[in-house]
Amino acid sequence: MIRRIARLCLVAFLAIPFFFATPATKRDFRLVPISRERRIGFNDNWRFYRGVAEGAESPSFDDSRWVALRLPHDWAIEGPFDPKLNPHTGALPISGTGWYRKSFLLSESAKGRRFTIVFDGAMSNATVWINGHELGHRPYGYASFAFELTPHLHYGTDSNVLAVRLTPEEHSSRWYPGAGVYRNVWLDVTGPTHVAEWGTYITTPEVLDEKATVSVKTEVQNQLQNEAGIVLRSSVLDESGKLVSKTSSEVTQISPGATRTIAETLTITKPQRWDMDHPYLYTLVSEVVDGNRVVDKYSSSFGVRTSSFDKEKGFLLNGKVHKLHGVCLHHDLGALGAAVNRRATERQLEIMKAGGVNAIRTSHNPPSPELLEYCDRMGLVVMDESFDMWRIPKVPNGYSKYFDQWSERDLRDMVRRDRNHPSIIMWSIGNEIPEQKSADGWKGAKRLTDFFHEEDPTRPTTSAFNEWDDAIRNHLADNVDLPGFNYKPMRYEQIMKEHPNWVIFGSETASCVSSRGVYHLPIEKYEKHPSHQISSYDIIAPPWAYCPDVEFTYQDRLPNVLGEFVWTGFDYIGEPTPYFDWRGNSDQDWPARSSYFGMVDLAGFPKDRYFLYQSQWTTKPMVHILPYWNWEGREGQNIPVMAYTNADEIELFLNGKSLGKKKRFSGPVEIPVGPNVSEDKKFATKYRMLWQVPYQPGTLKAVAYSADKQVAEQEIKTAGAPAKIVLVPDRNVIHADGDDLSFVTVRIEDKNGNLCPMADNLVHFNVTGAGDIAAVDNGNAATVEPFHADHRTAFNGLALLIVRSRSQAGKIHLVATSAGLVLGEAEIRTEIAAGN
Ligand code: GAL
Repeated sequence: MIRRIARLCLVAFLAIPFFFATPATKRDFRLVPISRERRIGFNDNWRFYRGVAEGAESPSFDDSRWVALRLPHDWAIEGPFDPKLNPHTGALPISGTGWYRKSFLLSESAKGRRFTIVFDGAMSNATVWINGHELGHRPYGYASFAFELTPHLHYGTDSNVLAVRLTPEEHSSRWYPGAGVYRNVWLDVTGPTHVAEWGTYITTPEVLDEKATVSVKTEVQNQLQNEAGIVLRSSVLDESGKLVSKTSSEVTQISPGATRTIAETLTITKPQRWDMDHPYLYTLVSEVVDGNRVVDKYSSSFGVRTSSFDKEKGFLLNGKVHKLHGVCLHHDLGALGAAVNRRATERQLEIMKAGGVNAIRTSHNPPSPELLEYCDRMGLVVMDESFDMWRIPKVPNGYSKYFDQWSERDLRDMVRRDRNHPSIIMWSIGNEIPEQKSADGWKGAKRLTDFFHEEDPTRPTTSAFNEWDDAIRNHLADNVDLPGFNYKPMRYEQIMKEHPNWVIFGSETASCVSSRGVYHLPIEKYEKHPSHQISSYDIIAPPWAYCPDVEFTYQDRLPNVLGEFVWTGFDYIGEPTPYFDWRGNSDQDWPARSSYFGMVDLAGFPKDRYFLYQSQWTTKPMVHILPYWNWEGREGQNIPVMAYTNADEIELFLNGKSLGKKKRFSGPVEIPVGPNVSEDKKFATKYRMLWQVPYQPGTLKAVAYSADKQVAEQEIKTAGAPAKIVLVPDRNVIHADGDDLSFVTVRIEDKNGNLCPMADNLVHFNVTGAGDIAAVDNGNAATVEPFHADHRTAFNGLALLIVRSRSQAGKIHLVATSAGLVLGEAEIRTEIAAGN
């Protein structure tokens, strides 16, 4: 795996020597170790200042008192939460001015190379300077962008200074955007004739068992003063690095400054297809050869697969039908904020996949490259989304300010960066775009669809329409390939009847809300609760939304609807509906500051809803029951017990006594819904089972049977008083790279090892050795405890400690203490990865 990361991320082996120079003259001025890689990580040794810094773009500016840090960095996540700040964006300081500077040296022998700085994303309104020269500006915080540095660089003992100024604005987003250089930064080093940035486009027009045809378009850029003639060598390697196909093209007379596109076809015999359960990746290596010298080497990962959408069958991957069991994800990584981290990204996707998720919608913006890389590797398909608004604003300082000037550039760059990812199956031109209501809204849809088609004719476009009838009447829906509808399962049948050639899907569904481990009795649908929490019986949703069962019901009736993207997979920072009014702050809603929509909470702990989806989306036998079994004071009273399963039937036991069996899909359970779903506000669901169980402390147990055989069980015990802390790292061995993380679950247990389901003990952490605390959380959406701290109260028995490795191998020792509890301990080993 590690070797593959190295192969994919770093583009290798130029036929050039290593460069050395005289030692750095100033503490921060490091020599860039230009070796054989085209791409160099450029995240280390930055200095940061939050505030206006006159003249900070000038190389002579003194930044010695600025904070030294490593990117990616999100200044807003450090807080503090502030009731005066916008709850839309998590009541965190996402606006203001932030400066980043980095000084570096290049050796004399680096002269003649071309240097390009690449930002995977900076939030937002970035302006970049090198040695005092302004390189350019990029407003959209989710766009990747690059600037060539070469003409302004110094070599030898003269240092170079990169400066970045960000000016993110308040009221610029409907969710937490983060603030800062929150994605990775790279330095690309090439020869003067080289493959352009994002300069390969790989498709597989024919995929058969015996062979796959791989069509490659490669853009070669000539930055010499004279005409260039080169040979382009293209090779396909399999996952083991073995050459499986190659070709070469002689390219003559590329004029100075010109870019030439070279079309080639390669063949892979007996290809391994990229599929959900077999996400096989090939690598295209493109070498630019000048005479006998390889002057550039560029790698692109790709998959061999077919993807199509059929109005009868739905979505087909390699000819096989898959219903889309998708989730919408915002880009934040919980307590880590927006700062991109590989492991945190991978963990989110692992948790989603284990719940049966097979598709991700990058709501509502282009994602980090790492998210797509992990989707490629994990077999998750992606709806890649561009914008949350076009020209008509949703918030005063949103993207609408930049749409006219930047939308074409942002969108084309998005496709060019991402179009080789096999995981991407559709491009979204936008979410709930207010232009749905404009008579000429279709023009905007057509314009963006055309851009996508020009850059990538192989994938359909979509848009997430909430105003379904307006979007149809104003022909926006006609101007995408796959109209997506938000929160309208009740309309699918009608839409398909009236538009028999459309292929449609639930681009955003459910928006059910809940807090992990919270149960309010009696079960009832309410708007707000004084605790700022929401009962987890999975029936509460805001007026436009509904519980998961409603979508299941309509999707099951209409198998040719492609599937759904649930709002949301994870809780995210900001938009704490229903404790939130988009018109302004309400004191009564404080301190609610993050969403309740996730099937998993902000810390990554599954809520009950996660298991409701798992029961519909997976086949490995499972059963899940709720609520907890601590109802002191309610002895003898009926407690509603719900069960979610994918098995044939369930038998429920209380203290060993059977309470009877129930068959899956047998008896409808009546649940309250909003008037948008049913006029009488009642809905009969077959997707859950319900028992009324007179409370008695002890053990509640569900046994699941399929074909009369026991296949799964779950037991919940009445817990005693909190007695001890137990630490459970998700990984006990992590990489010693200063970036890898172990996510440690902190459990408050009684003396017998039962989770105490209401425990809220304050836990202190002592982390020593080869790692540090990266952040803490507990999944509570209504607390203003900081994420950057060495302590956390438990929320319903759980907290999360995120530990980051250092760059040296060793052991990390964790101790968790809390008054009156036996302490918890754990050890994590950090190792230098083979090959590093
Ligand atoms: C949708 C919107 C999402 C989120 C969601 C909450 O209308 O597209 O971004 O706001 O509502 O239910």
